[in-house]
Amino acid sequence: MRLDKLLCDMGAGSRSQVKQMIRKGLVTVDGEPVRRPEEQVEKEQRVCVEGKSFSYVDLEYYMLYKPAGCVSACTDKRCQTVLDLIPDRKRKDLFPVGRLDKDTEGLLLITNDGKLAHFLLSPRRHVDKTYKVRVRGELTKDHVEAFREGLDIGEERPTLPALLKIHTSGEISEAEVTIREGKYHQVKRMFQAVGCEVLYLKRISMGSLRLDESLRPGEYRALTKEELLGLQKEIEV
Ligand code: URA
Repeated sequence: MRLDKLLCDMGAGSRSQVKQMIRKGLVTVDGEPVRRPEEQVEKEQRVCVEGKSFSYVDLEYYMLYKPAGCVSACTDKRCQTVLDLIPDRKRKDLFPVGRLDKDTEGLLLITNDGKLAHFLLSPRRHVDKTYKVRVRGELTKDHVEAFREGLDIGEERPTLPALLKIHTSGEISEAEVTIREGKYHQVKRMFQAVGCEVLYLKRISMGSLRLDESLRPGEYRALTKEELLGLQKEIEV
């Protein structure tokens, strides 16, 4: 691929900025300065701009512990986005796989792997998503049954069976809920349908991927090989 395209894809700058950097002699390929933007380079070659590596990376996968207050978008004029929280990212085409509400915390996969994202988000695939939830209102066995049977949240059809595990019940209750769809505000609307208000929501898993408990809100890390393989295996099924 062309050197200027590689650098541009890897987020070194706009095409014209990158061309200028190359012409100024700031760019090296395997340690040798290269001054032609159209120079052909292989993906394996070491490309640096003023000593900083911009070597080619095809696909990136990050697990982010999304904090409340930032938006699940790539750009936003007013709010911090989930991509702002990943300064080490190499690719400029990363995006969050699905959305969490601004006030929801927890697991968000950030990648540029469109095929994997498409699978995880496909309504036909019914990928499990588990959330920890704190609600105002008591939770009982009847709620567990209602979640299992499916709830009317104002859509054409009731929700698919969901698994509700009650941890504590009282004026404020805590539970874990696993859903297999991803409708807008789905968990909040499901609790609303049984007369409870969601006060706190945190996603802890998506398919085989579980939020790393050592991460704190706002922190992230690359997926391990095992985590990625686990997700890729789900695609094959
Ligand atoms: N359900 C919600 O209501 N909000 C989220 O952010 C995710 C699931």
